[in-house]
Amino acid sequence: MSEIILSNPIIDLKETKKNLNSVLNSNFINEGKQTKQFENKICKFLKIKYAVTTTSGTTALFLALKAAGIKENDDVLVPNITFPATANAIKMAGGNPVLVDVDPVNILINENSLKKKITKKTKFLIPVHVSGRGSNIKKIIKLCKKNSIKVIEDAAEAFGSKINNKNLGSFGIAGCFSFAPNKIITTGQGGAVVTNNKNIYKKLKILKDQGRVGPTTGGEDKYVSNGYNFKFTNLQASLGLSQIKNIEWRKKKLNQIHNYYLKNINQNKYFKIIKFEIKNGETPLWTDVWCANRDKLYKFLKGRNVVCRYYWKPLNVTYPYLKSFSGLKESKKLQKKLMWLPSSLNMSIADQKKVCNLINSFYS
Ligand SMILES: Cc1ncc(COP(=O)(O)O)c(C=O)c1O
Repeated sequence: MSEIILSNPIIDLKETKKNLNSVLNSNFINEGKQTKQFENKICKFLKIKYAVTTTSGTTALFLALKAAGIKENDDVLVPNITFPATANAIKMAGGNPVLVDVDPVNILINENSLKKKITKKTKFLIPVHVSGRGSNIKKIIKLCKKNSIKVIEDAAEAFGSKINNKNLGSFGIAGCFSFAPNKIITTGQGGAVVTNNKNIYKKLKILKDQGRVGPTTGGEDKYVSNGYNFKFTNLQASLGLSQIKNIEWRKKKLNQIHNYYLKNINQNKYFKIIKFEIKNGETPLWTDVWCANRDKLYKFLKGRNVVCRYYWKPLNVTYPYLKSFSGLKESKKLQKKLMWLPSSLNMSIADQKKVCNLINSFYS
C-alpha cells in the first residue's frame, strides 16, 4: 500500500511539455522570454508591481536583504521557529539573526517578545508566514514603521495566501517565495522576490546577475556593483507557467483538505489543529497540529503508511544558532509538540478519511 505523505507536486504534463517544447525549440534555455512571462504572471496574480525570480527561497531572502541595504552586523529579527533557511540567508548577507519567541496560537512571531528585542542595532525584521499563516502582519508592519525597521516577508510557504484581500508577500518592502517541490507551485527548485519599490527591483536585477546592467553583450557588459549568479531558467519557467495557470484550483484543494481535517478529527486536550483564518484569506499549505505525545502519534501513523512531518526544531537548539531558551519560553513549550499532517494536492478523500480515522482511533 502506498504511503500518504506531506506533499506531492502536481504537474500538468501536457501543458508543461508544450511550454518545454517551445523553450527547447528556441534553444534558449537560460533566463529569457518564458522567465519574464512567469514573472509577469506572478505580478498579476499577487497584484504587485515587480517580481524577480531566483534560484531558491533562500537566495530570494538573501537578495532581498542585500537590495534593501543590509550592512555587516545589522541585527535582523527572526522567529525562533522557522526553517533554518531564514536565519541562514541573514547570515549569508552579513546580518546577525536575533531570535524572537513565537505565539503558540498560530506559531507566528510573538509581538510582545518582538517589542523586547528591538534595539538601536535592529534594522530588519523577517516575519515567517508558517504554513501560509500571516494574520499578524499588519500589526508587525505598524510596529516596525514606528521603529524604522524594514520588513522583508518570508512568504516561502504563503504563495497565494491573503490577509484582508491583500496577498502575503506584498505587505513589507519585499516578499520572498519558494518554489521547492513541497510548495503550492514548484519549479524543482526556485524562488522569487516581489516588491512595489522600483529601486529595490532594479537592485535585485543587478545583484542576481553579477552586478551587471543589461542588455548583456558579453565582454563589453557594464558592471555597476558586486553581484552573484542567481538566474532562473526558461526550463523552470515552463513548470511555473503551467502551474500558476490553475493556482485557484490549488488553493481550493488545500482549503478542502484543511476543512476536512477540521470537521472529521476529534480534537481533545492532547491534540489540537493549529487554526487558520481561511475566511480572512489564509490558504493552508499544510495542516499543522499540536500534540502532547507527538512522537508516539507519528510512529503510530507511520506504521499504518501515513507519514507526517515533524516541525523544525527551534533555531536556538540548531547549530549555528545555539543559545539558551531565555526569553523564548513559548518555543521551549512547543518543542517536540508540532507536526504537519499529510496535505498533498493530490490527496483523495479516501486518504483524508484514513488519516482522520487513524488519529481518532489513536486517541479513543
Ligand atoms: C519558511 C521557509 N523559509 C525559507 C525557505 C527556503 O526556501 P528554499 O528551500 O526554496 O530555499 C523555506 C523552504 O523551503 C521555508 O519553508
